[in-house]
Amino acid sequence: MKLLILYYSRTGNNRVLAHYLSDNIGADIEEITPLRRFKLLGFMLDFFGNRTPKIAPIARRPQDYDHVLFIAPLYDMGIAHPMKTALGALKPNLGAYSFVTLCGYHRDEQSAHVRQELLDLTGKMPAHVQELPVCDLLPAEKQRDVMTVSARKVTTADLDAFGSKLSDIVGWFA
Ligand SMILES: Cc1cc2nc3c(=O)[nH]c(=O)nc-3n(C[C@H](O)[C@H](O)[C@H](O)COP(=O)(O)O)c2cc1C
Repeated sequence: MKLLILYYSRTGNNRVLAHYLSDNIGADIEEITPLRRFKLLGFMLDFFGNRTPKIAPIARRPQDYDHVLFIAPLYDMGIAHPMKTALGALKPNLGAYSFVTLCGYHRDEQSAHVRQELLDLTGKMPAHVQELPVCDLLPAEKQRDVMTVSARKVTTADLDAFGSKLSDIVGWFA
Protein backbone atom coordinates (compact mmCIF):
# COMPACT_ATOMS: atom_id res chain seq x y z
CA MET A 1 0.00 0.00 0.00
CA LYS A 2 1.35 3.41 -0.96
CA LEU A 3 0.95 5.63 2.10
CA LEU A 4 1.40 9.36 2.57
CA ILE A 5 1.81 10.81 6.07
CA LEU A 6 0.87 14.46 6.43
CA TYR A 7 1.53 15.91 9.85
CA TYR A 8 1.36 19.11 11.81
CA SER A 9 3.22 19.62 15.08
CA ARG A 10 3.64 22.82 17.06
CA THR A 11 5.86 21.64 19.91
CA GLY A 12 7.37 18.49 18.40
CA ASN A 13 5.40 15.54 19.78
CA ASN A 14 3.41 14.74 16.67
CA ARG A 15 6.56 15.22 14.56
CA VAL A 16 8.26 12.45 16.57
CA LEU A 17 5.23 10.20 16.07
CA ALA A 18 4.97 10.97 12.34
CA HIS A 19 8.62 10.14 11.70
CA TYR A 20 8.42 6.98 13.80
CA LEU A 21 5.44 5.77 11.75
CA SER A 22 7.00 6.81 8.45
CA ASP A 23 10.18 4.89 9.28
CA ASN A 24 8.31 1.81 10.50
CA ILE A 25 5.68 1.65 7.79
CA GLY A 26 7.74 2.99 4.91
CA ALA A 27 5.64 6.00 3.94
CA ASP A 28 6.29 9.32 2.26
CA ILE A 29 6.03 12.12 4.77
CA GLU A 30 5.37 15.87 4.58
CA GLU A 31 4.86 18.54 7.22
CA ILE A 32 1.96 20.99 7.20
CA THR A 33 3.39 24.46 7.87
CA PRO A 34 1.23 27.43 8.84
CA LEU A 35 2.30 30.72 7.28
CA ARG A 36 2.76 32.86 10.36
CA ARG A 37 4.90 35.88 11.04
CA PHE A 38 4.53 35.55 14.82
CA LYS A 39 4.22 31.90 15.81
CA LEU A 40 2.77 32.21 19.32
CA LEU A 41 0.43 35.06 18.41
CA GLY A 42 -0.78 33.15 15.34
CA PHE A 43 -1.43 30.06 17.44
CA MET A 44 -3.39 32.07 20.01
CA LEU A 45 -5.48 33.82 17.36
CA ASP A 46 -6.32 30.44 15.82
CA PHE A 47 -7.13 28.94 19.19
CA PHE A 48 -9.28 31.72 20.62
CA GLY A 49 -10.84 32.73 17.29
CA ASN A 50 -11.17 29.17 15.95
CA ARG A 51 -9.44 30.36 12.75
CA THR A 52 -7.96 28.15 10.07
CA PRO A 53 -4.62 29.74 9.14
CA LYS A 54 -3.04 29.88 5.70
CA ILE A 55 -0.55 27.06 5.17
CA ALA A 56 2.39 26.54 2.82
CA PRO A 57 1.52 24.63 -0.36
CA ILE A 58 1.45 20.85 0.09
CA ALA A 59 3.81 19.32 -2.47
CA ARG A 60 2.49 15.76 -2.45
CA ARG A 61 -0.88 14.86 -3.97
CA PRO A 62 -3.34 12.52 -2.14
CA GLN A 63 -4.49 11.06 -5.46
CA ASP A 64 -0.99 9.58 -5.93
CA TYR A 65 -1.45 7.42 -2.79
CA ASP A 66 -3.68 4.55 -1.63
CA HIS A 67 -4.12 6.08 1.81
CA VAL A 68 -3.28 9.31 3.61
CA LEU A 69 -2.52 9.28 7.33
CA PHE A 70 -3.01 12.67 9.00
CA ILE A 71 -1.22 13.31 12.31
CA ALA A 72 -1.77 16.40 14.46
CA PRO A 73 -2.35 17.57 18.05
CA LEU A 74 -5.77 18.25 19.51
CA TYR A 75 -6.74 21.62 20.96
CA ASP A 76 -9.96 22.15 22.87
CA MET A 77 -11.20 18.66 21.86
CA GLY A 78 -10.63 19.40 18.17
CA ILE A 79 -8.06 19.00 15.43
CA ALA A 80 -5.21 21.55 15.37
CA HIS A 81 -6.17 24.48 13.17
CA PRO A 82 -3.42 24.22 10.48
CA MET A 83 -4.42 20.59 9.95
CA LYS A 84 -8.03 21.67 9.50
CA THR A 85 -6.86 23.99 6.72
CA ALA A 86 -5.02 21.08 5.08
CA LEU A 87 -7.98 18.69 5.36
CA GLY A 88 -10.28 21.25 3.75
CA ALA A 89 -7.82 21.99 0.95
CA LEU A 90 -7.24 18.31 0.14
CA LYS A 91 -10.93 17.32 0.30
CA PRO A 92 -11.53 17.22 -3.48
CA ASN A 93 -8.67 14.75 -4.06
CA LEU A 94 -8.80 12.74 -0.88
CA GLY A 95 -9.56 9.01 -0.97
CA ALA A 96 -9.07 6.66 1.97
CA TYR A 97 -7.58 8.35 5.01
CA SER A 98 -6.98 7.93 8.74
CA PHE A 99 -6.16 10.24 11.63
CA VAL A 100 -3.81 9.75 14.57
CA THR A 101 -3.02 12.20 17.35
CA LEU A 102 -0.47 12.38 20.11
CA CYS A 103 -2.90 14.44 22.17
CA GLY A 104 -2.88 15.40 25.84
CA TYR A 105 -5.70 13.62 27.59
CA HIS A 106 -8.52 11.09 27.69
CA ARG A 107 -11.66 13.21 27.43
CA ASP A 108 -15.27 12.12 27.21
CA GLU A 109 -16.69 12.81 23.76
CA GLN A 110 -13.29 13.86 22.37
CA SER A 111 -13.06 10.94 19.98
CA ALA A 112 -16.63 11.49 18.70
CA HIS A 113 -15.91 15.20 18.26
CA VAL A 114 -12.75 14.51 16.25
CA ARG A 115 -14.56 12.03 14.00
CA GLN A 116 -17.31 14.57 13.35
CA GLU A 117 -14.75 17.26 12.49
CA LEU A 118 -13.05 14.89 10.06
CA LEU A 119 -16.37 14.12 8.40
CA ASP A 120 -17.33 17.81 8.21
CA LEU A 121 -13.96 18.81 6.74
CA THR A 122 -13.50 16.02 4.21
CA GLY A 123 -17.02 14.83 3.49
CA LYS A 124 -16.11 11.23 4.33
CA MET A 125 -15.45 9.11 7.38
CA PRO A 126 -11.87 8.13 8.22
CA ALA A 127 -10.90 4.46 7.97
CA HIS A 128 -9.26 4.64 11.41
CA VAL A 129 -8.80 7.12 14.24
CA GLN A 130 -6.42 6.63 17.18
CA GLU A 131 -5.66 8.91 20.12
CA LEU A 132 -2.38 8.43 21.98
CA PRO A 133 -2.70 10.64 25.09
CA VAL A 134 0.54 12.04 26.50
CA CYS A 135 -0.93 11.80 30.03
CA ASP A 136 -0.48 8.01 29.77
CA LEU A 137 3.28 8.63 29.98
CA LEU A 138 2.98 10.39 33.35
CA PRO A 139 2.51 9.14 36.92
CA ALA A 140 -1.16 8.97 37.99
CA GLU A 141 -0.98 12.09 40.17
CA LYS A 142 0.25 14.21 37.22
CA GLN A 143 -2.13 12.95 34.54
CA ARG A 144 -4.68 15.76 35.04
CA ASP A 145 -2.10 18.49 35.54
CA VAL A 146 -2.52 20.64 32.43
CA MET A 147 0.89 22.36 32.75
CA THR A 148 2.75 19.06 33.17
CA VAL A 149 0.93 17.38 30.28
CA SER A 150 1.39 20.36 27.91
CA ALA A 151 5.09 20.61 28.74
CA ARG A 152 5.80 16.90 28.20
CA LYS A 153 8.18 16.41 25.28
CA VAL A 154 7.70 12.96 23.79
CA THR A 155 10.71 11.03 22.49
CA THR A 156 10.80 8.06 20.14
CA ALA A 157 11.64 5.83 23.14
CA ASP A 158 8.46 7.02 24.92
CA LEU A 159 6.29 5.73 22.09
CA ASP A 160 6.83 2.10 23.21
CA ALA A 161 4.60 2.88 26.21
CA PHE A 162 1.59 3.07 23.86
CA GLY A 163 2.04 -0.67 23.19
CA SER A 164 -0.77 -2.25 21.20
CA LYS A 165 -2.27 1.12 20.23
CA LEU A 166 0.95 1.90 18.37
CA SER A 167 1.35 -1.54 16.82
CA ASP A 168 -2.31 -1.39 15.72
CA ILE A 169 -1.53 1.75 13.71
CA VAL A 170 1.41 0.06 11.99
CA GLY A 171 -0.88 -2.95 11.37
CA TRP A 172 -3.49 -0.83 9.54
CA PHE A 173 -1.03 -0.47 6.69
CA ALA A 174 0.58 -3.92 6.68
C1 LIG B 1 -4.02 25.33 24.39
C2 LIG B 1 -3.96 23.80 24.36
C3 LIG B 1 -5.15 23.07 24.36
C4 LIG B 1 -5.11 21.68 24.34
N1 LIG B 1 -6.30 20.99 24.31
C5 LIG B 1 -6.26 19.63 24.29
C6 LIG B 1 -7.48 18.90 24.25
O1 LIG B 1 -8.59 19.43 24.22
N2 LIG B 1 -7.39 17.54 24.26
C7 LIG B 1 -6.21 16.87 24.31
O2 LIG B 1 -6.19 15.65 24.31
N3 LIG B 1 -5.03 17.55 24.31
C8 LIG B 1 -5.04 18.91 24.31
N4 LIG B 1 -3.86 19.61 24.33
C9 LIG B 1 -2.58 18.86 24.39
C10 LIG B 1 -1.85 18.75 23.05
O3 LIG B 1 -2.68 18.13 22.06
C11 LIG B 1 -0.57 17.93 23.27
O4 LIG B 1 0.28 18.64 24.15
C12 LIG B 1 0.17 17.56 22.01
O5 LIG B 1 1.03 16.47 22.27
C13 LIG B 1 0.99 18.68 21.40
O6 LIG B 1 1.45 18.24 20.15
P1 LIG B 1 2.73 18.85 19.38
O7 LIG B 1 3.91 18.77 20.33
O8 LIG B 1 2.91 17.97 18.19
O9 LIG B 1 2.41 20.27 19.01
C14 LIG B 1 -3.87 21.00 24.34
C15 LIG B 1 -2.68 21.75 24.36
C16 LIG B 1 -2.73 23.14 24.36
C17 LIG B 1 -1.42 23.91 24.35
